[in-house]
Amino acid sequence: FLKVKVNKLANPFFVGMAIKASQLTNGSPYDIILKNEFSSISAEYEMKMDQISTASGIYNWTVADKIVAYGNANNINVHGHALVWHNSVPQWLKDFSGTDAEFAAEVKKYITDVVTHYAGKVKSWDVVNEAVDDNGGTMRNTIFLQRMGPNYVKDCFQWARAAATAAGDTSLLLFYNDYATSANTAKQDKVFSLLDDLKAAKVIDGVGFQMHNTYLSPTKAQIEADLNKAVAKGLKIHVSELDIQVNQFNDISTFTNERRLAQKAKYKEMVKIYNALPAANKYALTIWGMRDNESWIPYNTELNHPGNDWPLLYDANFAVKSSHTGFLEGL
Ligand code: XIL
Repeated sequence: FLKVKVNKLANPFFVGMAIKASQLTNGSPYDIILKNEFSSISAEYEMKMDQISTASGIYNWTVADKIVAYGNANNINVHGHALVWHNSVPQWLKDFSGTDAEFAAEVKKYITDVVTHYAGKVKSWDVVNEAVDDNGGTMRNTIFLQRMGPNYVKDCFQWARAAATAAGDTSLLLFYNDYATSANTAKQDKVFSLLDDLKAAKVIDGVGFQMHNTYLSPTKAQIEADLNKAVAKGLKIHVSELDIQVNQFNDISTFTNERRLAQKAKYKEMVKIYNALPAANKYALTIWGMRDNESWIPYNTELNHPGNDWPLLYDANFAVKSSHTGFLEGL
């Protein structure tokens, strides 16, 4: 039992799972596993802007509300993912023909309305997701950068904070979330300079490291160096989307015992690194999906993953894998 074991630690943290609203039916295998094993949820996609915002000022809360209510009713932490992400911009906002100032006002309105709607119900938000370019050194060239300029990340955080405060929520945690910062130090440097700006503006609480890793990479030393930089800055750390691929080169057609053990060791390593963080820097370690056969990894076009993979803690029958044992051994 991940949840039980984590709760018994001297410095516990949330153990999170990415979920979909359709999985939350009372008595479903997902529901049973969530309640037994996990203490936090993130919506895999149903709380993103293109899902909630159907037109300017018009919101579809139904699905997101279901997720948040499930967490609140079952004493499971709800992490909000994600207010601003270049891959979830609704069509109406992509097509928005107003001025740049009017575009910024739409983003402000969205952030304000969503943070207000979930004030006191959602414990933390990824305010901006993936704002830094993979080639390092620069901001990702998104519609937000183009329309709002280089200070847009700070603006979004300020709007989120102001909305929470106005709604009486003084404990909302605001995160910046990004991927592939451990092995790519050019990207890492840019992310941390962005975090410095957000720290200086006193608008950020923590950083999410997605950790879509493989059984080979990043190395333990790379992960530790990355996370320790966040510790040095006094930021809370969310390992926010952990999965560990074993077949990124499509060199195996079935899940071999060798890869099974390699993956188990890598999960154990990640949990050990996370658990060793100072108490003040811990928040949650979230796994990006429950069953291998539902993982986003093989279907992701940007990753260009050529074949099948087995990146998670449960197999297609909801049975725990060696990776799950590795997670427990890391504690
Ligand atoms: C992915 C989900 O897993 C998919 O179901 C969805 O279709 C697209 O988004 N980085 C993120 C996550 O921050 O939101 C992404 O999740 C994976 C990469």
